[in-house]
Amino acid sequence: MPVLKVENLTKSFGRTHVLKGVSFDLCEGEVLSVIGSSGSGKTTLLRCINQLETANSGRIIVGGRMVFDSSSEKKLTKKEKRENQLQIGLVFQSFNLFPQYTALDNVTLALKSLAKNRTDFRKNRKQIHSEIEDKAKSILMRVGLSDKFYSYPCELSGGQQQRVSIARAMALEPKILFFDEPTSALDPELTGEILKVIRQLASDSMTMVIVTHEMAFAEAVSTKVIFMDDGVIESCGTPNEVFRENPSDRLKEFLRKYE
Ligand SMILES: Nc1ncnc2c1ncn2[C@@H]1O[C@H](COP(=O)(O)OP(=O)(O)OP(=O)(O)O)[C@@H](O)[C@H]1O
Ligand SMILES: [Mg+2]
Repeated sequence: MPVLKVENLTKSFGRTHVLKGVSFDLCEGEVLSVIGSSGSGKTTLLRCINQLETANSGRIIVGGRMVFDSSSEKKLTKKEKRENQLQIGLVFQSFNLFPQYTALDNVTLALKSLAKNRTDFRKNRKQIHSEIEDKAKSILMRVGLSDKFYSYPCELSGGQQQRVSIARAMALEPKILFFDEPTSALDPELTGEILKVIRQLASDSMTMVIVTHEMAFAEAVSTKVIFMDDGVIESCGTPNEVFRENPSDRLKEFLRKYE
């Protein structure tokens, strides 16, 4: 069963039709790269799937849960919406770390706030917090930041800050990780660090959707590639199919910009 299923999704902002009927699915462990020109609707697609925007029509199913269905009258409660959102971890271009917190606190913050809902929280607060910190440290170690637990964002390089934001997204154990151009604010040397972390996650079978302008990386790391053009999926397939065997004329034109 797919972990993500998107069916005929449409979204407009006023008179701008941004998504014009987008459908695809993603199985567990798959890595999907979404490529396409600026304005083609890539970010809007991610935002609609994670309910940061409400699509106009279509259906979205994440981890077997219907998170959006325009044909249904049923309204989700705030709690259901939040639970749906927690299934997806988000990593943005601009890191979005809290500047007043250390790397470790940035990773533990959401986990500590969720733990407050546990029935045993009052009784076991100390132990719960210490378990959360141990978990956060092991994730920070996984992204190569074992010596930066207590550094503040302003003391970290862009690449290190982005790795903290990846650790923060991973800490919530989402079913899928979404990356929206995770390297576009970084210079080429730091870009390599992030791509290495994503590659490692891919080999650990993390299910991921990555909006990227790094074509060589998309080709190397993905199991599936979607080329978005003007609000539709213009091409979709394995990297080999999309980039090598059968690139459409429109895709060839787009790829020429990266040569
Ligand atoms: N909140 C909004 N209100 C109005 N228009 C919007 C909004 N968000 C996006 N758009 C419009 O939707 C279109 C698609 O935007 P989107 O951000 O999805 O593109 P993108 O493919 O992610 O581009 P880029 O590669 O530049 O990030 C653009 O024309 C944009 O102006
Ligand atoms: Mg975008």
